[in-house]
Amino acid sequence: MPMSPPTDERTAVVSGVGGWVPPHVVTNDDLSAHLDTSDEWIRTRTGIRTRHRVLPGMATSDLAVEAGRRALENSGEPRAGAVVLATTTPDRICPATAPDVAARLGLTGVPAFDISAVCTGFLYGLATAAGLLAAGITDRVLLIGADAFTTIVDPLDRSTAVIFADGAGAVVLRAGHPEEPGALGPIVLGTDGELSHLIQVPAGGSRQRSSLRPQAPGEQFFQMEGRDTFRHAVDRMSTASRDAVRAAGWTVADLDRFAAHQANSRILTAVADRLGIPAEHQLSNIAAVGNTGAASIPLLLAQSHADGRLAAGHRTLLTAFGGGLAWGATTLIWPKLPGS
Ligand code: COA
Repeated sequence: MPMSPPTDERTAVVSGVGGWVPPHVVTNDDLSAHLDTSDEWIRTRTGIRTRHRVLPGMATSDLAVEAGRRALENSGEPRAGAVVLATTTPDRICPATAPDVAARLGLTGVPAFDISAVCTGFLYGLATAAGLLAAGITDRVLLIGADAFTTIVDPLDRSTAVIFADGAGAVVLRAGHPEEPGALGPIVLGTDGELSHLIQVPAGGSRQRSSLRPQAPGEQFFQMEGRDTFRHAVDRMSTASRDAVRAAGWTVADLDRFAAHQANSRILTAVADRLGIPAEHQLSNIAAVGNTGAASIPLLLAQSHADGRLAAGHRTLLTAFGGGLAWGATTLIWPKLPGS
């Protein structure tokens, strides 16, 4: 009997995308009403004009369900064999939020779990989904990035309250062939735990609990050393991007679209300048939605797909950076999806 030709049908291929932000909009002027800041400072230092915020009663799972439902609809099939949720703001410390999201999407029974890699969670999620598909555990993964960051940010800390926001984005990944449009290229990931103090919520975990010491004021809130974070973000996203492009067998000149974690518009410009990516190839929604953590890249993909800035055939670079420190990058050729 002739042998079948060797095949590699287990690459992760993007086959659906969706995003959602909560309806409540907060402007820079709204923030300036109770913080020592201004619309001008926020716009020029971060590029942000508005952001969306959950109101009391709404949690990360609510954002994730909306984005997940839209991604499944966009993929043309309501089914997924696993749900992976990247988030820094789970509904509860225990259990994970993904099983609840799966159940509300009619996917009770499938494997579902959370990933904690802060703003790089979506890139870590892509690698995890690719692993589930390659291992044959399922043939369709729903990967959601969702964060209700305003629930952990100190509303009186002007260095974080103006940047971080709420939202969700999702993709459906199916098992497919590496040559198909939508197939993920090599994924570059890294961390530096020696710098974990640059972005953290000190309280609420086992270290703070086991010490039995009283909580110091502000320790329950998200804290960030902005200036150092800025420098590492530019360095790590630039290097990871170069590595991912090279591993894909591309050059930067081959890229049509640059979809980076929407941390701060100055960071995005600095990374793009270092790489030599022209402004017209950069996707951005930070002015309207701020920094939405793990939701940032999939929300950007969903909105750019919907408005046509990201179209079938675009050679696209994804890169992210955040607490951990953690970073990552990968490439794909954007596939033909409904709505494009
Ligand atoms: N409004 C007005 N002034 C503010 C302010 C605000 N919202 N936030 C900080 N400032 C002040 C600081 O207190 C400081 O005042 P001082 O000089 O009197 O001490 C001054 O602005 C400059 O602070 P600095 O931290 O050096 O500003 P910056 O230019 O680095 O901008 C960030 C601050 C937070 C916007 C910037 O560091 C940044 O974007 N960092 C990366 C953040 C990020 O992307 N994190 C996510 C990674 S996933």
